[in-house]
Amino acid sequence: MPVTIKDVARESGVNISTVSRALNNGYGVNAQTRELVVSVARRLNYRPNSVARGLVTGRSHSVGLIVSDIRNPFFADVARGAADAARSENCDLVLCNSDLDAARQMGYMQSLLEKRVDGILMNSVSALRPEEQKQLAECGVPIVLLNRSESSRAFSTVAADNEGGGALAAQHLLDLGHRNIAHITGPSQHGNLSDRTRGFVQTLMKAPVPVVPQVLHGAFDFEGARTLTHQLLDRHPKTTAIFAANDVMAFGVVRAALDRGLKIPGDLSLIGFDNIEFSSIIQPPLTTIHQPKYEMGHAAVEILLRIAGDKNKRAPESRILGVELMERDSCRRIL
Ligand code: RIB
Repeated sequence: MPVTIKDVARESGVNISTVSRALNNGYGVNAQTRELVVSVARRLNYRPNSVARGLVTGRSHSVGLIVSDIRNPFFADVARGAADAARSENCDLVLCNSDLDAARQMGYMQSLLEKRVDGILMNSVSALRPEEQKQLAECGVPIVLLNRSESSRAFSTVAADNEGGGALAAQHLLDLGHRNIAHITGPSQHGNLSDRTRGFVQTLMKAPVPVVPQVLHGAFDFEGARTLTHQLLDRHPKTTAIFAANDVMAFGVVRAALDRGLKIPGDLSLIGFDNIEFSSIIQPPLTTIHQPKYEMGHAAVEILLRIAGDKNKRAPESRILGVELMERDSCRRIL
């Protein structure tokens, strides 16, 4: 049987509330009693029961993070930021991976709510039905969406400037003289990806001589990008530059170029999005749009815990963080 607070109280010769105050640096316990209780607790190997404490305080000191694809290193940086922010408030982070499956995502939501987490961070609700979204918005626990703006009226959001990032990628390729340009991306209902596409396409269309890019949608991962690149180059062999919706997709483009014996940037210029660590390590180092991943995770937890502790239940908050072009070696000038 685990040692309980009652055992520590009996062994120390004080009552339960004194033990609790002594162990939590509470008021009204003299130094000698505190020392005695702490040493008894240590000797008996007593661990406070956080479930029982949560019943009293109404807080579990835990925050849930549901990611859509744990294979994508983007989420490792986001999770680090979130975990650090949670830790500084004495909270733990509970990580769940939905693999972009709506049923799994909803299952994790329910189970996190049953665990009475103080808040939930997730990167999308777009795969959920409207009634499920409504149910979540009214669940009584703060929810912050990461890098999604589609439901900002119901949920708080922390996003990078996805549209601005798409525009930066387009301008970079235009400046290098590219005119046969393509964009490969994930499903069109994916909120942040459509923002990137919009910024990219609009900037190309506003060029002195407007450029109409080929836009291909497919599976939002390494293999999906490899397949899309083959389709693109079969249909449009004159393509000189590709903007991939994120760095993992850019790696799929690199793989397809290798399959076809094409050189990057000699035959094909390539630009990604995210600036994950591997992007500066591959050959050639990938030009990409940096988004502040760690800061996004950190900010999302800060917002979440602030709302959780706010008795006035303020309206959801939206925050947009800046992006930056990381110019490396995967794009070349062609004029
Ligand atoms: O869904 C994951 C992707 O969206 C990441 O690669 C990053 O681009 C995020 O915004």
